[in-house]
Amino acid sequence: MEIDVFTGLNGIPDEVINNKTIIVIDVLRATTTIAVALASGCLEVIPVLTPEEAIEMRERLGDERVLLGGERNALKIPGFDLGNSPMEYTPEVVGGKRLIMTTTNGTRAIRRAAGGRQVFLGALVNAPAVAGQAAAAEGDITIICAGTRDRFSLEDFLAAGFLVDRLAGQGQFILRDGALAARDYYYLHRDNLLAAMKGSFHGRLLMDLGLEADVEFCSRVGAIDVVPVYGGGIIKKAA
Ligand code: MLT
Repeated sequence: MEIDVFTGLNGIPDEVINNKTIIVIDVLRATTTIAVALASGCLEVIPVLTPEEAIEMRERLGDERVLLGGERNALKIPGFDLGNSPMEYTPEVVGGKRLIMTTTNGTRAIRRAAGGRQVFLGALVNAPAVAGQAAAAEGDITIICAGTRDRFSLEDFLAAGFLVDRLAGQGQFILRDGALAARDYYYLHRDNLLAAMKGSFHGRLLMDLGLEADVEFCSRVGAIDVVPVYGGGIIKKAA
């Protein structure tokens, strides 16, 4: 059984997605926010590619318990109920609701993973729980870092390294080079993950927008134990 880590969506071969166990990571902030939404009692999240698709889907569903969430350029989309800050997704706001979500990178990466046998969504906040679920799965594990506009993202690679470290400690895995590099990178920063997150391009961009609290929140390893699972176009909490 192998573990490999891919950064960005370009050039990921179908053979490492189809029928594999996949973990999609977008630490800042889509997969963090989705995990928090489900932990707050949101019933399900439907990831879509564009704001137009989200609006059209809500109209079609005609259900007032459906919320629209997500971002473009890290900011709430006009006409949407929620942005992409995990702290917006409180039980009062999302409890008992369904959510349609579109983000620049995260929801694209999730949709790209659609052929996986099992698709888990990972972030630092739920990384220990995700590692536990993925370790119980059989076969190869492909970790996909969503990145930022098709470019490498440090924060996703850091979370990938955490997962590789945990998984390698729980099973007989062969680590491909992407997995070895991610683990080494995590070892380099594990004593101060927050500083690494704040130093990343996306971390700095969010802080420039006054969203430092989001970066801090997204750095809290193991703060929640919810594992989002994507299948049939819908994200739900793993049983
Ligand atoms: C994304 O999916 O591109 C991100 O979650 C962007 C963000 O920080 O809102």
